[in-house]
Amino acid sequence: MNIDLKEVDIKDKNLLGDLIKEYQKEILNKVDIEPYKYLDSYWEKSDRHPFFVMLDLGIIGFVLINNYSVIEKMANSISELYIKKEFRNKGIGKNVAKKVFKLYPGKWEIRELRVNVSARKFWKAVIGEYMKNKFTEYDLTSDKWDGFVQTFDNSNINS
Ligand SMILES: CC(C)(COP(=O)(O)OP(=O)(O)OC[C@H]1O[C@@H](n2cnc3c(N)ncnc32)[C@H](O)[C@@H]1OP(=O)(O)O)[C@@H](O)C(=O)NCCC(=O)NCCS
Repeated sequence: MNIDLKEVDIKDKNLLGDLIKEYQKEILNKVDIEPYKYLDSYWEKSDRHPFFVMLDLGIIGFVLINNYSVIEKMANSISELYIKKEFRNKGIGKNVAKKVFKLYPGKWEIRELRVNVSARKFWKAVIGEYMKNKFTEYDLTSDKWDGFVQTFDNSNINS
């Protein structure tokens, strides 16, 4: 199984937009979804990086990286991660997260909406293993975020 990240070219913006819609329908449990308002910013702002998750040559998900953070100023953040349902529970999400962490060493902040209970379990399992449990978790209720936040620094992690 060959998992890779492929930076999304602007010509594939609508393809990414369609996958984001699928993701939002699932996590928000809604059918009518507004277009993702930050989509264009991924080609306009230098801190933003959109990637397709590739299994061999096929797209099976996406991951969006930026520097929007609520605790650590300018920390790296994975704002969205999605693996299509049929490819889940095979360690692909974890593999992707580790690839992304490796690409951007430094301070990290990962957030989950309070309603997304399984995402919190996933991130705690992944970050806990990757950082050997050296991370901090916050339960935040503020105008910027209502939910959980994990912070860590992977500057000295080599794998
Ligand atoms: C969350 C998501 C990315 C996980 O991807 P995945 O490829 O199925 O995850 P993995 O197989 O790599 O799982 C890694 C670890 O997380 C745990 N995990 C994964 N999904 C979980 C779930 N729904 N509930 C509890 N734990 C979960 C696994 O048990 C595994 O732990 P282990 O290493 O101890 O065995 C995927 O389910 C998804 O796209 N969900 C919808 C979108 C979403 O919620 N994204 C996250 C918010 S940004």
